[in-house]
Amino acid sequence: MAARDLLLASLVLSCSLLPCYGVVLFSSLQRTFVVTASPAPGQVLKGGVDKITVTWGLNQTLPAGTDSAYKTVKVKLCYAPISQVDRGWRKTQDHMNKDRTCPYKIVARPYSSANKTSQSVEWTVKRDVPTATYFVRVYAFNADENEVAYGQTTDAHKTTNLLQVEAISGRHTTIDICSICFSAFSVLSLVGFFYIEKRKGKRSQ
Ligand SMILES: *[C@@H]1O[C@H](CO)[C@@H](O)[C@H](O)[C@H]1NC(C)=O
Ligand SMILES: *[C@@H]1O[C@H](CO)[C@@H](O)[C@H](O)[C@H]1NC(C)=O
Repeated sequence: MAARDLLLASLVLSCSLLPCYGVVLFSSLQRTFVVTASPAPGQVLKGGVDKITVTWGLNQTLPAGTDSAYKTVKVKLCYAPISQVDRGWRKTQDHMNKDRTCPYKIVARPYSSANKTSQSVEWTVKRDVPTATYFVRVYAFNADENEVAYGQTTDAHKTTNLLQVEAISGRHTTIDICSICFSAFSVLSLVGFFYIEKRKGKRSQ
């Protein structure tokens, strides 16, 4: 893991030294959308069968012009903290381009001030959505395709109004490719390490 940590550290460092182009931090986004989803929490949704209805709109108490930069809206299904146990990569990363919390796109639509008050979409939960707990998040993007604002069905700690999905096929999860890659990587590094040590040992004899 040391090599990966080093790589990450140097990436972070270079990003803090150079102005990293296009880096958007989630913590810098304004929460401006009011988002709701049905069914009510507690009901278990079956992948490939059941539907989620999402309704969203600009918070009407915000000053006029809040949404002047909004060009598109993307609605996404996101892992809630309960789904993150043993799956660290599902955790929210502040760097939007590293964040893997919201892997399922429900819909993308152009944003128009004419229909900002309330829009909704009905979405059948895809078959490949793993058994886990979710919430819905709506992002607003500007003309440069950077996130500028959001709204979500849950509170800031992601504990309320969570949706429960149960994969229908009995496949508990689509394989967590990342964790497999990382374990393969650690095994390879270990093997490499022992090989190098062995050669060193031979040479010094
Ligand atoms: C709408 O915005 C106001 C002012 O920022 C805030 O106090 C309120 O909680 C927001 N409403 C919702 C439903 O998010
Ligand atoms: C909102 O307006 C945009 C642009 O006029 C349009 O493309 C989009 O489909 C509209 N959304 C709805 C739900 O009518």
